[in-house]
Amino acid sequence: MPTALVTGSSSGFGRLTALALARAGHRVFASMRDPGGRNASVAAELRAIGVAEGLALEAIELDVTDEASIAAAVQDIEARAGGIDVVVNNAGLAAAGLLETFTADDAHRLFDVNVMGPLRVNRAVLPSMRARGAGLLVYLSSTDGREMMPFLALYCSSKFALEALAEGLAYEVGPLGIDSVIVQPGTFPTTSILKNLVAASAPERAAGYGAVAEMPGQVFAGLGELVSSGNAPDPILVANAIVDAVAMPPRTRPLRVVVDASGFDGTAQLNDAARIVQRALLAKFGLSSLGAPWLA
Ligand SMILES: NC(=O)c1ccc[n+]([C@@H]2O[C@H](COP(=O)([O-])OP(=O)(O)OC[C@H]3O[C@@H](n4cnc5c(N)ncnc54)[C@H](OP(=O)(O)O)[C@@H]3O)[C@@H](O)[C@H]2O)c1
Repeated sequence: MPTALVTGSSSGFGRLTALALARAGHRVFASMRDPGGRNASVAAELRAIGVAEGLALEAIELDVTDEASIAAAVQDIEARAGGIDVVVNNAGLAAAGLLETFTADDAHRLFDVNVMGPLRVNRAVLPSMRARGAGLLVYLSSTDGREMMPFLALYCSSKFALEALAEGLAYEVGPLGIDSVIVQPGTFPTTSILKNLVAASAPERAAGYGAVAEMPGQVFAGLGELVSSGNAPDPILVANAIVDAVAMPPRTRPLRVVVDASGFDGTAQLNDAARIVQRALLAKFGLSSLGAPWLA
């Protein structure tokens, strides 16, 4: 039975992905912060579903900003399951508003989860994946990891950084048998958009922006209406896309999977253009084999 580790499983895509992977026959470690305290009810709920449905599903502690927490979780899973086949780097925070209203400390907090988190988790699992010559690294990026949505500069920059980190690592570990899949959801009604936001510590800086200062509120009111309306897309689409990618044979998986019900295909267009450029760049340096199979 393949083993999967999902980060940020206390809500949203992480919770749904942990459940969907377990239902697809994986042994799943649904990791989260504080499963014995703040997140005790969701940890208990996941365990209860696991028991009721006969799933191999466990809730464990893992904070992606804490090296010791990551090391303890990975060592525990490797000792009990013999290795980790799939890591879903899902944990993430959002931030919305004028960039100048965020301090460097605010930005650090966001990047610590969205960018340094996957970097830390990958570094913990890669030694055993390399030793076995197999593994799959999945990342929850976003269409905001490709498109530059105004007033989401901080969030977009963290997802742009995640995209570069994930693709760069894919060139290095792909030849060792380790696949990478970057999932790029559009807007879905999960908690992050509604409440899991890094707040701007310097909102007074908006005062000098005149009419531009009003725009973020207008944009995000519209977004809030969309996600709280009955017309919002079902987040299970993202979990199902991850299950589908995991089910594909190694070395046949796409590097990027867009999951967006909005009808705007900007991210797919940018992915296609980037694939052409990357294929040419790698060929120029005699490195084409590193991009197989997704650039082929
Ligand atoms: N919803 C969307 O429209 C959308 C679109 C594109 C991409 N995404 C991405 O999808 C991912 C999941 O977000 P979501 O939409 O499902 O939102 P969510 O429900 O707010 O889930 C985010 C999860 O990250 C966890 N988390 C935060 N900091 C953590 C840390 N230091 N260590 C471990 N876990 C931590 C949160 O857990 P706590 O309970 O501990 O706070 C929460 O379970 C994120 O990377 C997000 O950027 C979302």
